[in-house]
Amino acid sequence: MKASSGILLLAFTAVASALENGLMRTPPMGWMAWERFRCNVDCENDPKNCISERLFMDMADRLAEDGWRELGYDHVMIDDCWTSMQRDKDGLLQPDPKRFPRGIAKLAQYVHERGLKLGIYADFGTHTCGGYPGTTFDKIETDAQTFADWKVDYLKFDGCYSSAEDQEKGYPLMSKALNATGRYIGYSCSWPAYQGGLPPNINYTLLGEICNLWRNYDDIEDSWTSVLSIVDWFFTNQDQLQPVAGPGHWNDPDMLIIGNFGLSPDQSRSQMALWAIMAAPLIMSNDLRTLTSDARNILQNKAIIAISQDPLGIQGRRLLQEKSRIEVYWRPLASSASALVFFSRRTDMPYRYHCSLDKLNYTAGLYEMYDVFTGEVLSLPSHTTPFTVSINPSGVVMWYIYPVARPTQTGEERKYPSVRRKLRVSTVRRGQRNGEHHLFL
Ligand code: GLA
Repeated sequence: MKASSGILLLAFTAVASALENGLMRTPPMGWMAWERFRCNVDCENDPKNCISERLFMDMADRLAEDGWRELGYDHVMIDDCWTSMQRDKDGLLQPDPKRFPRGIAKLAQYVHERGLKLGIYADFGTHTCGGYPGTTFDKIETDAQTFADWKVDYLKFDGCYSSAEDQEKGYPLMSKALNATGRYIGYSCSWPAYQGGLPPNINYTLLGEICNLWRNYDDIEDSWTSVLSIVDWFFTNQDQLQPVAGPGHWNDPDMLIIGNFGLSPDQSRSQMALWAIMAAPLIMSNDLRTLTSDARNILQNKAIIAISQDPLGIQGRRLLQEKSRIEVYWRPLASSASALVFFSRRTDMPYRYHCSLDKLNYTAGLYEMYDVFTGEVLSLPSHTTPFTVSINPSGVVMWYIYPVARPTQTGEERKYPSVRRKLRVSTVRRGQRNGEHHLFL
């Protein structure tokens, strides 16, 4: 076989084996009810905070009117506890009539009219984790069709009350059923989280072929301890997890809890920075109606969002764990750029950490670094020049780094256009043109 047809065949196989919905080339973004609003169904006494169409309409309004949608936060996601306790007489899932009097199709329409997408929740098993009707084998196609008929755009498919053997069949079947509806429905699989999240129990090659994202690990809670346990697990297992993420198929370390009660401002910046390094979905679970401007500023940070949504879609890694309890994280980005996060696990005072780019495997060249939280630009004359960053306890310093000039193989210096001038202009535009760095154009 000639080389060219070999390449063609390879390309074809890759396309044919990937989930064929073409969705989520960058990690999904939006808002989800669970962590903040749980299974609060008491609409009589707590009408503003119960799981009801009002809550999702409120959040859709906020996403559309407060600048979130333009930044990419375009999904509104229903989680557990939205259905009646019984399916209807035809065996279909039905929303609780008191809490969703207008039905899900109307809610989808409301969301779509605001330029947003609607996510919904189901569970492969006899019941959802909250005890509502589950999706057993005989209901997979029916439920997929119901969601498509309602014009739902995303399904979180949980895994309470099913066995490992059944999940192995059920998750691929739901993927097929969603595809068969002909509607583009993003597919989030909780399967790995129920089976330890690691190979050999989990076949991530298969997951990448049938799901757009997957929950690998425990549920996030509103605390720093919970965020840390998730960060620890994902980076301890980075050799297995990092290579399996990419455009259309992502690891999901669970929701952003920034804006709730458990994180300090520094810890909030840390969650945002580390989720961007992980190429994680940016799915907030907070109350967008009462968010403080501190929380909003972190969640709406354009530079971090651009890093999270980098078109290469390569998940980052932890590079260093120092004895000083400082850690360094890195993610390669398009146009020879990259992101670095310096993270402190210390509990005493801001720590002055000394480092240089060559220690972090950067090759010879001139670099500029943009501090995504302060907006400062730093130039280093060489990749061996020492620098110092001051990192707050449980906080981060995060840099977007781009080469200004770098020696080429032929010896001459290739000049990269400096972005310093452009940094002042504020609207984000993702991607790149003409090889320039347009992160902040
Ligand atoms: C599981 C999931 C959570 C949430 C709840 C709902 O615990 O992991 O994200 O969906 O179920 O009951």
